[in-house]
Formats: sequence, C-alpha cells, structure tokens
Amino acid sequence: MKALFLAGGEGTRLRPLTDGVPKPMVPVMGRPLLERNLELLKMHGIDEVVLSVCYRPEAIERYFGDGSDFGLKIRYADEDLPLGTGGAIKNCERYFDDTFFVFNADVLSDINFSAMLRYHKRKKADVTIAVTRVKNPSAYGVIEYDEDGYAVSFLEKPAPHETVSNFINAGVYLFEPRVLRQIPSGRPVSVERELFPKLLARGRKIAVYRGCHYWLDIGTPEKYIQAHRDGFDGGLRLPEVNFHERAVYSRLDARISGKAVLRGPIYLGRNVRIAPGAVVGPRVVVGDNGVIGRKCRIANSILWNDVVLEDGVEMSECIVTDANTVRSASRLKHVICTPETVKAAKHLAI
Ligand code: GTP
Repeated sequence: MKALFLAGGEGTRLRPLTDGVPKPMVPVMGRPLLERNLELLKMHGIDEVVLSVCYRPEAIERYFGDGSDFGLKIRYADEDLPLGTGGAIKNCERYFDDTFFVFNADVLSDINFSAMLRYHKRKKADVTIAVTRVKNPSAYGVIEYDEDGYAVSFLEKPAPHETVSNFINAGVYLFEPRVLRQIPSGRPVSVERELFPKLLARGRKIAVYRGCHYWLDIGTPEKYIQAHRDGFDGGLRLPEVNFHERAVYSRLDARISGKAVLRGPIYLGRNVRIAPGAVVGPRVVVGDNGVIGRKCRIANSILWNDVVLEDGVEMSECIVTDANTVRSASRLKHVICTPETVKAAKHLAI
C-alpha cells in the first residue's frame, strides 16, 4: 500500500527551528520527525511512499534518498510554487491508482493505520479523515459528523459558540483515487477549506475515524517541547526507547566521565561526550556528537546534533539547533539557541 506525505510547508510557526531545516527534518528525540512517522507506517506494512516537497527539499532528499536504507521505496514530487495541501495531492495523482494514505508531515500520533483502513472500507467512503478530541478546538479545523460517522460540516478555527464538536482534523486521511479528479490542477488548493466542503456539497461520503488517543501537531516551539515531554513521560511511545524508571538511553559510543552525574530520563545520540563534574538531566536530549563540558548543568533541554556546551554552561528549558557552540559559563533559560541567539548569548553570559 502507498502513502503520501505532505512535507512541503514552510513551517513559519515553528521558526526559528525551521530557519535551517524543513519541519519534517526537525529532530524528535534524536531522529527526524519524518523518519519517526515512516517507521510507524512500515510497522503497518506500508512501504511505498511519495514525499511531496517544496520548502528546502534537498535536506529531505539527501537524508532519505530512494528509501532503501530505511527499507522503503521513496519517490519525490516537487513543486515550483507551494500548491497547498490539496494542490500537492493533485500534483501526485500519477502515483496513485488504489486507496492511499495522506499524512501531514508534522503530526505525531498513535493511530492504528490498519484499523483505520478497515474502517474506511467498511464505511465505503471516498475519503476518511482521522479526528482527535481536543479541549479547545478554536485553533483547529473542526469537523461535525452524523450518528453514522460521516462528516456533515467543516469549520476552520471556529469561535466557541459556533460549534458543539470537539473533534478536529488530525491530518491523517485515506483517499480513493477517484476523488483526485475533483481537485483543480495548477493552482493552490486547501483540502480543509476547499476540497472537503466541495466533496460534501457533491454528496461524496467522508467518513470520520476516531481511533486516535495520542495526537500532537508539532506546529510551534511549545508543541515541539511538549512532544519531548510526552516522550520522556510515556505519553508518546517511541519504538526504541522506554524511559520507564528514569532510564538513560544511549544510542552508541557515548563517553561519559565517571565523575559526571546523569539524572534520567535522558536521551543520548551517537558519540556523545560528557566531561567530569557535569550534571545532566532530567529530560535532556543530546544529539549525535554532542559535547557537554566540565561542570555544565543542564536540565529540561533539547540539543540537536553536533552541539558543544563549553565548560560551566548552565542551561534549562532550552533548545539548541545543529552545530552550535555555547560559550563557556553561559547561563541560559527558556532560550532557543540558533546561530543568531548563540551570538547574542555573549550578553547573557555571567
Ligand atoms: P505553518 O507555516 O507554520 O502554518 O506550517 P506549514 O507550512 O507546515 O503549514 P501547515 O501546518 O498548515 O501544513 C500542514 C501539512 O501540509 C504540513 O505537513 C506541511 O508540510 C504540508 N503543506 C502545507 N502547505 C503545503 C504545500 O504548499 N505543499 C506541500 N507539498 N505541502 C504543504
């Protein structure tokens, strides 16, 4: 079975994390978000994937190639100009001649894709949309549905009095290829605002699938931090890591001084070095080739790959993007350290 990933958005709300990398390549617990999602798909026997790319496509293509290193067959569909979610699906029409999945690439969920497919077939739907329940739906696309489980209306970011539904579009869909004929080509189209309402108006069946317990869209830095909190606390299940009992998970070749203190849960990527006197954790991710200098104290922070904390750095509630060096004795709290902020951190150093 095939799947299409919508991976071309600019990720403006996730800035500055997306200044250097596209959103699907932002690391979640040490590995790109898209890799985590592809891994999940494979577990459900889906191994042919089309990646619809637009913003910084080369970073995605360089990492995944033809997919063979990941046990997948991956193809790419590029756009000269952003076509929106619906236009991007139309742009990939040639790849699909049978029921296929469509995913927003910024979503983490525990949806059982096999069960969703069975539901879609049982409902004889043209499209099935996974939905998830949230307390405050006003920031999302809300779906109202009838007692048989078919959508009856779509409301984008409704005011509280405008809807009684708490179910929002989870960004995971099943499509029948015949639906693609309903999408105009060559211009931007939104599935949420244009295609789905149009399908309803034409009497097409849009089923609503509610089998989603964990769901998070990593659309903003706050949500990005939330994903890691959930990963450490067990709300988000990651196949290779179990942080039960405040574990320290280490991928490979870590060199940790016997005089460093590690307070789990902690995720260490490949080839991490931790110097004597450092106190690391809890809830810390150190990406590949990370170096934590002498007497650093770091908690509740996410370091991407190739990050160096010089001696004596104190850090909490921070994110440090790839290949940044944080100057000796800097004290940082609630900072996203990109190349720009690290320069500015001189002024934060005490
Ligand atoms: P913001 O700029 O922060 O709103 O993020 P975004 O650009 O990713 O938009 P949004 O979160 O609404 O997008 C939902 C999904 O659709 C994401 O996985 C995007 O990568 C993808 N997407 C959005 N617009 C396009 C597009 O024009 N082309 C393609 N191929 N994918 C898109």
